[in-house]
Amino acid sequence: MTNKKIGVLVSGRGSNFQAVLDKIRNEKLPIEIAVVISDSADAYALKRAEQAGIPHTAIVRHDYRDKASFEEAIDSRLREAGVELVVLAGFMRILSADFVNRWPQAIINIHPALLPAFKGLDAQGQALKYGVKIAGCTVHFVDAGMDSGPIILQSAVPVYDEDTHDTLAARILVQEHTILPEAVKLWCEGRLEVRDRRVKIRKE
Ligand code: GAR
Repeated sequence: MTNKKIGVLVSGRGSNFQAVLDKIRNEKLPIEIAVVISDSADAYALKRAEQAGIPHTAIVRHDYRDKASFEEAIDSRLREAGVELVVLAGFMRILSADFVNRWPQAIINIHPALLPAFKGLDAQGQALKYGVKIAGCTVHFVDAGMDSGPIILQSAVPVYDEDTHDTLAARILVQEHTILPEAVKLWCEGRLEVRDRRVKIRKE
C-alpha cells in the first residue's frame, strides 16, 4: 500500500505533531509526514521535525505582502510535498476561505475545547472562567468559519475545583494526543464520511 502523505501546520511547541508522528511510527501506519510548516521560525515543533528527519520549513507571515501570498506559499509547499491531508496541530492562524476551499474535507484541526463551546483563543481559559465541570478537546474538519467545521472526534475531561489554567490544559492535552493521531489515521484509511454536519466513522 502506498503511504498517505500528510502535511502538518504548527505554530509552537509541537506536542500534537509529535503525538501524530509517534503513532505513525509505533503502529507502523502507512502514513508519511511529508512536510511540517511553521508560521514561526523559532517554533520548537521545527526542532522536533529536524530531530525526526522530517522535511520542515518556516513560512512567516511578515515575509509576505499580504495574507493571500502567505497562504499561497503554504499551499505551494504542501502541493510540492504531495500532501493529501493538512493537519493543523496548534496552528494559531485562521486560514482564509480561499485556502480552505482548495482543500475540501482535507484539513483537520485540534481545538482544546468541546466545540461548539469556547471557540477561538485560550479555549481552556474560557472553559475555566465559564465554570464548566466538563471540558475537553475536539478534532474537526476545517471550513471557512472559526472552529466551526464538522466534528470528527471529541474527548471529555473533568474540571476540578483546584484546577488552574495549566492543570486543566495539561489534562486536555493528554486527550488531544490521543484523538488527533486517531483522526489522522481514520482519515488516511478513508473511513470518514461527512453528511451535512455529521461525520460518520465507517467500521474497519
Ligand atoms: C494545543 O493545546 C492545541 O489544541 C491548541 O494549541 C496547543 C498547541 O500545542 N490549538 C489551538 O488553540 C487552536 N485554536 P502543541 O504545539 O504542543 O501541539
